[in-house]
Amino acid sequence: MSVIDSTEKKVIVITGITLALFLFSILYARGKYNDLPECLPYNKTYTEPRVTKLDDHTYQVFALAKMWQFQPAQIYIPVGSEVDFYLTSGDVVHGFNIAEKNVNMMAVYGNINKTTVKFDKPGVYKITCHEYCGLGHQAMQGEVIVNYPKTN
Ligand code: CUA
Repeated sequence: MSVIDSTEKKVIVITGITLALFLFSILYARGKYNDLPECLPYNKTYTEPRVTKLDDHTYQVFALAKMWQFQPAQIYIPVGSEVDFYLTSGDVVHGFNIAEKNVNMMAVYGNINKTTVKFDKPGVYKITCHEYCGLGHQAMQGEVIVNYPKTN
């Protein structure tokens, strides 16, 4: 007859609880934060940087990162908008970071990355390039202006 040592039993129980907590926290975090960026196949219709309004609170932004600016540089949307960002690069690899919204994407030539963000609070959200891309890198910025000052 085999007997499990009580210490070993404790270790098994503690390991089980830790693992359960770990799995639970992964499931809990899912969907609580922004969508993970998806990589979409390159689409030839992606020619003009633009903001498209789908309805009062749903927007699409087709963003182009290029040495050393974002186009469109200023994106005006009303409070409560949900925005699909489609991102590509016109040259080298750039970053696309909206720190306040936990957005962290790469702009890659020939590829489109996509993420969806909801802007519930008014304000100016800075878009910064966080991938070194040459001489003008540190000045490469854009803004998402959420009803501030009143725009819609
Ligand atoms: Cu673009 Cu750094």
